[in-house]
Amino acid sequence: MLIVGFTAALVASGCNSEREGEGGTAGTPAKGFAADALIGVALPSKTSENWVLAGDLFTNGLKAAGFQSDVQYAGASTTVADQQAQIVAMVTKGAKVIVIGATDAAQLSTQVAQAKQAGTVVIAYDRLITNTKDVDYYIAFDNFKVGQLQGQALLDGMKAKKPTGPWTIELFSGSPDDNNSGVFFNGAMDVLKPAIDKGDVVVGSGQTDVKQTATQGWKAENAQSRMDALLTSTYSSKTLDGVLSPNDTLARAIITSVKGAGKPIPVVTGQDSEVESVKSIVAGEQYSTINKDTRKLVAETIKMVKTLQTGAAPEVNDTKSYDNGVKVVPAYLLAPVIVTKDNAATAYADDPKLAPLTK
Ligand code: BGC
Repeated sequence: MLIVGFTAALVASGCNSEREGEGGTAGTPAKGFAADALIGVALPSKTSENWVLAGDLFTNGLKAAGFQSDVQYAGASTTVADQQAQIVAMVTKGAKVIVIGATDAAQLSTQVAQAKQAGTVVIAYDRLITNTKDVDYYIAFDNFKVGQLQGQALLDGMKAKKPTGPWTIELFSGSPDDNNSGVFFNGAMDVLKPAIDKGDVVVGSGQTDVKQTATQGWKAENAQSRMDALLTSTYSSKTLDGVLSPNDTLARAIITSVKGAGKPIPVVTGQDSEVESVKSIVAGEQYSTINKDTRKLVAETIKMVKTLQTGAAPEVNDTKSYDNGVKVVPAYLLAPVIVTKDNAATAYADDPKLAPLTK
């Protein structure tokens, strides 16, 4: 059994466009609110570039849409308590919608219950909030698809380098308190497990349990020290062909570790299209990343807020995949794009920050 520990959150690939019933889910006010109302945005700590980008985009975008905004990040260490307090403060200040990128998926039920009580709409942003009925909408890139794309990129990259297997890999997953970590891992395993079962792909260390693959807090230093340990325990004579990394921050930490040990760089996956990783891909080091354009995700979220402001029900395109343990949360999912050196120029053509890096 490879997929252990993480809650399976299987996302069906088909996205039928459908509309929520008038008024949205139970408890969602259908009345709308003032065009200059306060909108709260509670983001996790800045564990990757996407969160840094999101904060600025929300502040500017909500202002441009005529709203007042309160955009907060959880601190670096007391993340859960920080975020809980920030959400309560937003409710107290009368926020009409609170957009939440959860620092810990399962630790917000009391705070979102308070929000609901006050008639505030709760939107889970990028990361699902679990174990509560009090989350109205989920907006994200299709995270199971992200995992599948990472698994496929790992296989493709290894085949391109060494046409015949078996290939030896290691698996890394994200922080266990982030619901996305399990979704990414399950998506990747959906692609990798058949190859592992056939013996085409071998996990060199045998570490496939989530307790072993997890990276607490999505911290680079935790991934780097685990990779250091793996290289010492397993790869003194064996070749490491590939590493499943759930995001770019961890991918670069893994590459740093391998370089430090004087080993050839394996095929390493990633996610987020961080500047340093795009440079690394173009330089032929990191193999892949995922483009989940934060500009688009924030723009769609603000569109959702504007629709709620008018009193109408926002558009969703998935009403069956994101079961948070208490209910299936109506979701608006965007499509992630895999990026390697081959398609980087096309993938970032409309991104003024990343496009120049691909020239
Ligand atoms: C996001 C990723 C990000 C990770 C660490 C996840 O929930 O979906 O894009 O790399 O958090 O910040």
